[in-house]
Amino acid sequence: MRNIEIENQTKNVSARTKEKVFIFDTTLRDGEQCPGAAMSEDQKLEVAQRLEVLGVDVIEAGFPISSKIQFQAVQRIAREIETPIIAALARALRKDIEVAAEALKDARRKRIHTFIASSPIHMKYKLGLEPNQVIQKAVEAVKIAKEFTEDVEFSPEDATRSEKEFLVELISRVIEAGATVINIPDTVGYTTPEEYYNLIRYLIEKTSNSDKVIFSTHCHNDLGMATANSLAAVRAGARQIECTINGIGERAGNTALEEVVMAIYTRGEYFNVYTDIKTKEILKTSTLVRTVTGMVVQPNKAIVGDNAFAHESGIHQHGVLKNPLTYEIMTPESIGLPSNRIVLGRHSGRHALKDRIIRLGYTLDDLQFEEIFQRFSELADKKKEVYDEDIIAIIDDSARKKIKTRYELVKLHVFTGKGTVSTATIKLKDQELLDENGQPKVLTEAATGDGPVEAIFNCIDRIVGLQTRVKSYRLQPISEGRDAQGQVNVLVQINQRVFAGKGISTDIIEASAYAYIDAINRYFSNDDNLSVHFPKEGETI
Ligand code: KIV
Ligand code: ZN
Repeated sequence: MRNIEIENQTKNVSARTKEKVFIFDTTLRDGEQCPGAAMSEDQKLEVAQRLEVLGVDVIEAGFPISSKIQFQAVQRIAREIETPIIAALARALRKDIEVAAEALKDARRKRIHTFIASSPIHMKYKLGLEPNQVIQKAVEAVKIAKEFTEDVEFSPEDATRSEKEFLVELISRVIEAGATVINIPDTVGYTTPEEYYNLIRYLIEKTSNSDKVIFSTHCHNDLGMATANSLAAVRAGARQIECTINGIGERAGNTALEEVVMAIYTRGEYFNVYTDIKTKEILKTSTLVRTVTGMVVQPNKAIVGDNAFAHESGIHQHGVLKNPLTYEIMTPESIGLPSNRIVLGRHSGRHALKDRIIRLGYTLDDLQFEEIFQRFSELADKKKEVYDEDIIAIIDDSARKKIKTRYELVKLHVFTGKGTVSTATIKLKDQELLDENGQPKVLTEAATGDGPVEAIFNCIDRIVGLQTRVKSYRLQPISEGRDAQGQVNVLVQINQRVFAGKGISTDIIEASAYAYIDAINRYFSNDDNLSVHFPKEGETI
């Protein structure tokens, strides 16, 4: 074990004399609110299960009144997740709170999170309410929420642009009404660390009974200060951080869980607090969220970016080889990145693969392992070296394939080149169209396009009889080298709704076809409503 690891562990033992900061993960609510990040119910559950392993204290599972899909996902997570508190969001309206409470009914530990805007601009233009009416509604909402659970969180939306004295009055009143957690959102990512520190200090000092509640931070990253602001709030006395995996969320995103957690882990002495996050689970959680949302992480992203632990320059490499502490302030292992980059290949047998899968933190039964081994062998035949990222992608992809699909790619032929019109010929198996023997029909079509990818998409449209618009197409390598597998993520608009699709293959043309078919299957299974519906004030489903 490296010295740095021992040092951090020692710090975390002395952590017991420190105060705990609760980690409230809102990947499934605020994170999912950004374009293209919507997840199906199965995917949300999978992420929630991963968050449980990661050790988050609270999972904000959704905003149940906003859609039936949201309601069902919160309900399912509430039923299946055991340890973390499950929170659901509700506006300060009886109907919202009742629907949230219904979705949370079976949770072992539940929290209703109710909010109303408190800034002059929001109160005037969005709510059309006077400040005293806002206080009245907030107090009423907390009292209603208390009918269903002891644990009630209140957020004055756009708090950082609200009048401080008004916030004190509002917060004092909701605490009196029974709120147990007071969240101070920087809804538009406007504040700065110093300003936010002062605000939290001021509110803790001036609010009546502030010692009876937990103050919480919720920051957006519009000016790139979400992590710094959240940590400043912790220094000022906040003991809950609201954050998302990979920092996904509205506009520029929310505070990234991995950043605040690793800042506290690495600089625990400075912040004098600790979290209960199992940091070694961070990378796997980040990878899962990338996979299900299709939202990639920039290579230089702190903690989980591909380059976060890569040392390129000769001087750095030399230093790190002599002593990792020269250029590493935390170990790759501490976030679950195996520093040992021994790659597997076609000569690696079951034993080596099993060992690697276990080290990557997956538990597979024999049947699942066999399936993964077959896919690993096929891949190892195509590319010389199989990296950890390839193995993770195969495991995630095979879990994803368990979702019921209508169309399946049987054959793909593409003719393309400079000075020619690209043509695709495709055979798709349609599970819902049976032939005279009761077997799924295989449908064949050909189409042209401006390039091979467009030809494929046009051809699939012909087979499935849809008119679509491709809103985004992203191709990225999963691992290193010329023979790396490619991952394609598409967002496809069909009848005013947008569906995400993902495909992986060493052949990027094939990966494009898989991704497009994946999106089409979601449309037909009505599985994934990507245009998240955020209701207007007063609107109910
Ligand atoms: O950013 C925000 O203000 C929110 C609240 C609903 C907590 O997400
Ligand atoms: Zn938010």
